[in-house]
Amino acid sequence: MQVRRPRRNRKSAAIRNMVQENKVGVEDLIFPLFLIEGDKQKVEVSSMPGIYRYSSDLILEEIQSCVELGIRTFAPFPSISDELKDPMASESHNPEGLFVSAIRKIKVSFPEVTLVTDVAMDPYSSDGHDGIVKDGKILNDETLEVLGKMALAQAEAGADMLGPSDMMDGRVGYLRQLLDAHGYTDVGIMSYTAKYASAFYGPFRDALNSAPKAGDKKTYQMNPANRTEALIEADLDVEEGADILMVKPAIPYLDVIRMLKDNYALPVAAYHVSGEYAMIKAASEKGWLNGEQCMQEALTCIKRAGADIILTYFAKEFALLQKRG
Ligand code: PBG
Repeated sequence: MQVRRPRRNRKSAAIRNMVQENKVGVEDLIFPLFLIEGDKQKVEVSSMPGIYRYSSDLILEEIQSCVELGIRTFAPFPSISDELKDPMASESHNPEGLFVSAIRKIKVSFPEVTLVTDVAMDPYSSDGHDGIVKDGKILNDETLEVLGKMALAQAEAGADMLGPSDMMDGRVGYLRQLLDAHGYTDVGIMSYTAKYASAFYGPFRDALNSAPKAGDKKTYQMNPANRTEALIEADLDVEEGADILMVKPAIPYLDVIRMLKDNYALPVAAYHVSGEYAMIKAASEKGWLNGEQCMQEALTCIKRAGADIILTYFAKEFALLQKRG
């Protein structure tokens, strides 16, 4: 007779729940939000069913409904019209621009909400890149100056934490020093530590109309084939003063999430990106997958891999499901 019968611990829902090792809570989730110009605008992102771009008046209502469901942290991104884009992303640090003024409005209405704000040029760049482009090359150190202006404008508007998503070398240290020099010692940095040059960002670029006009992002985002290289990025981010390390995308990079969790004391975030959301939604619309179950499984497995925090477009849907029980 077998002495060890693992199935005993799977006998009932109550026992399974009792021995469950990992659980996703609404408090672990960050909800990315898309902003557009105008009033009373709510426009669905066609490649992300259920996800909308909101004008700043309606974003407040959306945040209110999320707060009622227990979501406390948001990561807003702006969709900027083409005529405001230029090679230097000047609109990114306009204090009266869409993004910075929305941060201010949100923090006035919801001081208790945490905002992780995006620091990168691409939504405002006429080249659609995260850095300044010159003769087809991305200029690293010149880009840091633009990121710095953006960071200060966001901090001034009330951002709680900056999310540099650009992958320029040295940006975490540069932003940390700049924030400190201006008295923003309590504004944190959630660094996009291991951000891969991924095809799973497609729907996000649709949402913001931010795809590169020429070339790709492979000279700054990481090669999907590399794992140990993420240790170099993480070492630098820790040294340079990051508060949270992020891996992006999530599901195809669970090994990287686990590696950072095991090697660093900082909290690890995972960005379950637009394409990961779109895949589940599309298959579930076709009746090929059970969308809710796939969402639960995906988020739980990201947690199991070692993520303390998950940025996901499913945040609201997950919170609604939890509430319904
Ligand atoms: C760009 C940025 C991207 C995402 C967040 N910030 C896309 C890119 O690098 O082109 C992707 C997020 C997603 O796909 O959900 N700074």
